[in-house]
Amino acid sequence: MCGIVGYTGNRDATPILLSGLARLEYRGYDSSGIALIDKGQLMVRKRQGKVDELRSSLEKSGANGFIGLGHTRWATHGAPSELNAHPHVDNAGRIALIHNGIVENHYEIREFLLGQGYHFNTDTDTEVLAQLVGHYFHDHLAEALQKAVSLVEGAYSIAVVAPEDPSTIVATRDRAPLVIGVGQGEYFVASDVAAFIEYTNKVIHLDDREIAVLTPEGVQTFTPDQRLLHKKIQTIDWDLEKIEKGGFDHFMLKEIYEQPQALENAMLGRINSECDKINEIDGVLPYLKNASRVYITACGTSWHAALIGEYILEQIARVPVEVEYASEFRYRDPIIDKKTVVVAISQSGETADTLAAIRLAKERGATVVGIVNVVGSSIARASDQVIHINAGPEIGVASTKAFTSQVMVLALLARALGLHNRALDARQAGNLAQAIEAIPEMVRAVLATAGQIKEIARDFLYLGRGLNFPVALEGALKLKELSYIHAEGYPAAEMKHGPIALIDKDMPVVCIAPRDNTYDKILSNIQEVKSRGGQIIALTSEGDNEINRLADHIIHVPETVPALYPILAAIPLQLLAYHIAVAKGLDVDQPRNLAKCVTVE
Ligand code: F6R
Repeated sequence: MCGIVGYTGNRDATPILLSGLARLEYRGYDSSGIALIDKGQLMVRKRQGKVDELRSSLEKSGANGFIGLGHTRWATHGAPSELNAHPHVDNAGRIALIHNGIVENHYEIREFLLGQGYHFNTDTDTEVLAQLVGHYFHDHLAEALQKAVSLVEGAYSIAVVAPEDPSTIVATRDRAPLVIGVGQGEYFVASDVAAFIEYTNKVIHLDDREIAVLTPEGVQTFTPDQRLLHKKIQTIDWDLEKIEKGGFDHFMLKEIYEQPQALENAMLGRINSECDKINEIDGVLPYLKNASRVYITACGTSWHAALIGEYILEQIARVPVEVEYASEFRYRDPIIDKKTVVVAISQSGETADTLAAIRLAKERGATVVGIVNVVGSSIARASDQVIHINAGPEIGVASTKAFTSQVMVLALLARALGLHNRALDARQAGNLAQAIEAIPEMVRAVLATAGQIKEIARDFLYLGRGLNFPVALEGALKLKELSYIHAEGYPAAEMKHGPIALIDKDMPVVCIAPRDNTYDKILSNIQEVKSRGGQIIALTSEGDNEINRLADHIIHVPETVPALYPILAAIPLQLLAYHIAVAKGLDVDQPRNLAKCVTVE
């Protein structure tokens, strides 16, 4: 994972790099570091811990320069420590380098460099890269980087500076994110636009293995064989306000409360035609209609959305769908032909496992449809067709508004596909459209009434049936990642085949029990929990009193069609996990060991 940022221009680089790192902390936060060039001298500072540690250390030492690199780390090779933090410097002290990704053949390259007389101070794969670039650096930094990466196997984004070329940053990427910010007389490079959006919204997206050379005079981009490229400068419509906390205590809470707007954005122009964005959905319909097989692949929360997508697409559009963990997909030799459609869901658009699944699908001739949030991300660009969820930046490590927006887009897709292949008639499609349009207002109502339940226990069980089973999985995941409380999501009826043994008076059981065709059955499952002393937190439809006699806490959620219920049910579960984590005094936006964007396989 890790976040990288670089600046070259005519301002003091230190505060720019520090604010960039703070915005990239969601990508990793076990250590951070900075390299500056000042009057031809290279200065490197690193600290274990969060970016604030680095900030305090820099305030004391007063390091400055007009060019520099910054890095916030999520350890892969080598423990989180000051020594292993980036930037790494070569033996001769001629270059400093930051890296996000993994050098898979680092051992082999290390052996080669040891044979050339180099020595190593760390076990990291990044130090190997630094020595390798140093080895090839004679007087042309871009050439040295290009030679070095030609030997590297793995995924990476890399930026390098050298005091001998004191205003130049050279950067490249392969299957890890890197974007260039184009300012006036100043240029940025970063893992994510959030790092420099304060200064510019003009960006250039580098493609795999392309090389960028940034100086205060401009940016040049090259193909891997060093031919000059003319890349388009794009304008992005995120602004600073969108990535600040806006009065909320945490990004996560802000993002939970942004859901009505995010859902409106996700559906904008996608029900009543006329808007360009509908084409994103229209464009994929012929592929799905004629597909020999449809897979949906994703990781984590996006995988939960995929499970809901399976139900929705099958129920509404009558198209059979298989859901796969992206990390498992390619290891089971999936059956793929030219008429297969692989739908890849990802908030960040950078998840390495999802990208690897896409690559396999494309190699075998499938059509890939990306459902992504981040415009211009690797998954968006690797897909043949893209549907953006338009949720806006999601900074909190735990995914919230992206999840509900993904479900919304899947519902819109199912409706459009149902109409296209005549599984739905105009009246049914009209009714579904009405239900979809009512959702943002219902979400507002859920947000206004969802109590602040702060049940703190050692273990939690989440039960749901049908479409709400993935919601149970998502509720359990939110609790685990934020509160470090063990939680399991289970299909309610499966409980009696094992997990029922866990139930006692100390076990809160969250039951997702809307008044749908599974209601009577789930009521019996709740009864089974109650008889064994478990505490019941029930999510049910408004106006339902039957569950009152069983539940210890009731959260009412407005009634909607089954396909859309997961959107409404997810919100109290997000809030439950949030409030428990806050009550435990934990870091909600950056839970331990996690990173927002998982760019390693
Ligand atoms: C959980 C969470 C992760 C991500 C997963 C996939 O709250 O955020 O489980 O859902 O890492 O990330 P994307 O959607 O960016 O591919």
